[in-house]
Amino acid sequence: MSGIESVLQENRLFPPSPATVSAATISGQAAYDALCAEAEKDYAGYWARLARENLLWQKPFTQTLDESNAPFFKWFADGELNVSYNCLERNLQNGNADKVAIIFESDGGEVNKVTYRQLYEKVCQLANGIKSLGYQKGERAIIYMPMSVEAICAMHACARLGLTHSVVFGGFSAKSLQERIVDAHATLVICADEQVRGGKNIPLKPAVEEAFAMGGCEHVRKVIVYQRTGGKVNWDANRDVWMHELAANQATDCAPTWVDAEHPLFILYTSGSTGKPKGVQHSSAGYLLHAMLTMKWTFDIQPNDVFWCTADVGWVTGHTYIAYGPLAVGATQIVFEGIPTYPHSGRFWEMIAKHKASIFYTAPTAIRSLIKASESTPASHPRNYDLSSLRLMGSVGEPINPEAWMWYYENVGGKRCPIVDTWWQTETGGHMITPLPGVHGLKPGSCTMPFPGIAAAIVDETGNDVEKGKGGFLVIKKPWPSMIRAIWGDPERFVKSYYPADFNGKYYLAGDGANRDLDGYFWIMGRIDDVLNVSGHRLGTMEIESALVANPLVAEAAVVGRPDDLTGEAVVAFVVLKQSRPNAEEGQKIAKELREWVGKEIGPIAKPKEIRFGENLPKTRSGKIMRRLLRDLAKGAEITQDISTLENPAILDQLKVAQ
Ligand code: WTA
Repeated sequence: MSGIESVLQENRLFPPSPATVSAATISGQAAYDALCAEAEKDYAGYWARLARENLLWQKPFTQTLDESNAPFFKWFADGELNVSYNCLERNLQNGNADKVAIIFESDGGEVNKVTYRQLYEKVCQLANGIKSLGYQKGERAIIYMPMSVEAICAMHACARLGLTHSVVFGGFSAKSLQERIVDAHATLVICADEQVRGGKNIPLKPAVEEAFAMGGCEHVRKVIVYQRTGGKVNWDANRDVWMHELAANQATDCAPTWVDAEHPLFILYTSGSTGKPKGVQHSSAGYLLHAMLTMKWTFDIQPNDVFWCTADVGWVTGHTYIAYGPLAVGATQIVFEGIPTYPHSGRFWEMIAKHKASIFYTAPTAIRSLIKASESTPASHPRNYDLSSLRLMGSVGEPINPEAWMWYYENVGGKRCPIVDTWWQTETGGHMITPLPGVHGLKPGSCTMPFPGIAAAIVDETGNDVEKGKGGFLVIKKPWPSMIRAIWGDPERFVKSYYPADFNGKYYLAGDGANRDLDGYFWIMGRIDDVLNVSGHRLGTMEIESALVANPLVAEAAVVGRPDDLTGEAVVAFVVLKQSRPNAEEGQKIAKELREWVGKEIGPIAKPKEIRFGENLPKTRSGKIMRRLLRDLAKGAEITQDISTLENPAILDQLKVAQ
């Protein structure tokens, strides 16, 4: 039994233990209900209270929610604060100065611990250096760096000065980097010479130069380079600056630049249903508020916890649950440079044991690959490691199948640790639907219930609530503080993507299909648009199609997803070449070439797993590609749908098999 069916028949329930309930910050159903009722009764008042209690304001706000220009909502708009100040000075003032903020472990296993005071000083020195180069509040900085203390410092140095950062995942290609530099109109790039992953050095700075060579990046004045490996790099003495030289003689204090609550803290590009990635713009105050609340309520963070989120700062999870959330609540966290399978696939478990991690947050795709690894290499099984320090675990990025959930629960959490399956998106800033460990009984595969104050619902295409037990569109009915504020430079696309008029224009449309069972638990069914989720990474089918047709050999391409045991979904591309359809041998050669091409255009994560060639694509008489049919072909399912409108049925045979 697979997918949706098995999920819907899942009826195991794991209630929280009495000890977990009594120790939790939000303790018991009544406490959860009280918060929900408070939000229900006075929505703005609820968030205002939390914003006053959690954030350090330079100038207190008097307005809470401004809906006058909906759906461009504003929160706490006349207040002023600084996000980096909220994460660093706060901890110097409240007795955490000598507490370890970051336990950094490199790919090769070296450990470097940084206290809050040390982190503050490092951030200030870099911020002063950036200031000395003439940068000012309001400019944009691209950060293209490996997982490192320095990447976190770069984000905070920007936040401290009021620069808006846009982190580009180190696995993205020069082309993707260039598109983001251009779209954000960045004036500063912060990168590393190389990154180290799985024992290999992978160059980063050359990609920056390649991006510049593509043109359109002339607004970039300086490139700050963190020396990670000392590998050889080209140097432009007018433009390039070593991070360590820039920071070396700077003062270890740097007064924060106060910004409006709505000041864009960052832009993070993510895939949508058209070819061009969307620059999701987040605010300062509302974003940080939700990062803090979810650290406190979902992760139930306590002073002695050792928190570990395995995401990369190139994704939103690494923004909210590495760069900002844990620091704002004064946690000790692990930051890991490497990959889960190097030098062996017990690395995660080994690190949990070594650093005594108590909260562990990872993605289903990692769990699935480690299950597989532990079957083929029993030495890497979690039972070989002392994981008794763990008390809470989390999952994010894609639906977790009940089998993987059970394995995680039994083998990693020792049947002792609740799993918070957190549903959220780049656009939502933080958790939206998630269990709270001291409140909800868990059902494997369900993200359970809305976070207190989040008006999550499932509706039909007219925006009406569907009955419990029926599927529909996942929406958020009310604006919330950490929501996306805009698509950078494209307000129309923001409205069209998230508040489309032909839907109902009033609710935030998440783009996921979902179901609520009779107990009211939410079950996420995956994307309803042309977005794929491969290993927890969002990829637009159109984006991959545009990359393919940019290749001189390709006339036309259509990309669909196919279920995959390991990566959740896999990319399958149907391609029509300008030349005639290749024979098997030639096809293999061209497929290899095209996969490399996509890797260069977007990044290795977007490479199609399979490429099939046809003389044409299945189209309706009006010329529309029949994607549903392609999806069936991709997974080898029998074609049961009506193909009478198909212009060219014969090509189905060509596309049935991989070459
Ligand atoms: C999917 C990642 C099921 C969903 C934080 C969403 C999930 C997309 C879950 C956002 C979950 C994320 N259960 N599906 N717990 N978490 N998703 O923007 O399809 O990279 O729309 O944000 O991932 O991906 P994004």
